[in-house]
Amino acid sequence: MGRARRARCALLHGHHGVRAATRLHLLMTAKTLVSERLTLRPWHVDDAPAALEIYGHAEVTRWLSPEMDQVADKAAMRLLLQQWAAESARLPAAAGRWAIERTADGLLIGGAVLLPLPPGEEDLEIGWHLRPDVWGNGYATEATHVLARWAFQHDVNEVFAVIRPANTRAATTMRNNGMHWVGETTKYFGVELQVFRLRQADLDPAAPASSRPPGDD
Ligand SMILES: CC(C)(COP(=O)(O)OP(=O)(O)OC[C@H]1O[C@@H](n2cnc3c(N)ncnc32)[C@H](O)[C@@H]1OP(=O)(O)O)[C@@H](O)C(=O)NCCC(=O)NCCS
Repeated sequence: MGRARRARCALLHGHHGVRAATRLHLLMTAKTLVSERLTLRPWHVDDAPAALEIYGHAEVTRWLSPEMDQVADKAAMRLLLQQWAAESARLPAAAGRWAIERTADGLLIGGAVLLPLPPGEEDLEIGWHLRPDVWGNGYATEATHVLARWAFQHDVNEVFAVIRPANTRAATTMRNNGMHWVGETTKYFGVELQVFRLRQADLDPAAPASSRPPGDD
């Protein structure tokens, strides 16, 4: 996989000639990604109470890698959000952590990540953490597609999801959103994980149909 490009000016491609103030605005807002029902935006420390509905929930944290304890309270959640903000400055251009808002009512429904996977930090992981009361609405699939398109615009050729073998719900999500099975490994976090991969062609809705024989719908 090509390394995610670090040049921040990539965010400004296609906007030559705009005034300096507009450019600054673009830089600050470029990481907000919008899909049909969702707005993926940077986290704010004030999101702590809503974030606790996600990261304070054992049904979410039990599946995360690296292993993560359930966040105990709002103060701990604020600290974690501050830590994420501090780390984000060191990430490659395509990488990041997003809060996922349901656009219709502004509810913070989850978090999503694009993060370099250890130990090599060359593979980019895509991950989703949704509050359990919104599972089953196709939000993870929608977030996958908008995040993958963002990554592919930044010289990333493929993104990987890593999940625990018992996380059958997540495995179904991978298969339904076009990801392909790669195999099992312990190389990332020292625990057995299933690896799925998504490439640009997997996002192209014309690709699967066009490769089928005529009449084979
Ligand atoms: C795994 C996880 C992200 C899946 O979230 P999700 O939004 O339910 O997943 P999907 O996008 O695949 O949604 C598919 C479901 O929505 C339903 N659905 C409803 N409307 C839909 C729509 N418009 N489009 C697609 N699916 C839709 C599908 O029928 C399917 O239902 P089912 O689960 O009853 O079969 C979520 O369970 C989660 O956050 N788990 C904890 C953390 C975790 O394990 N993360 C993975 C490792 S990083």
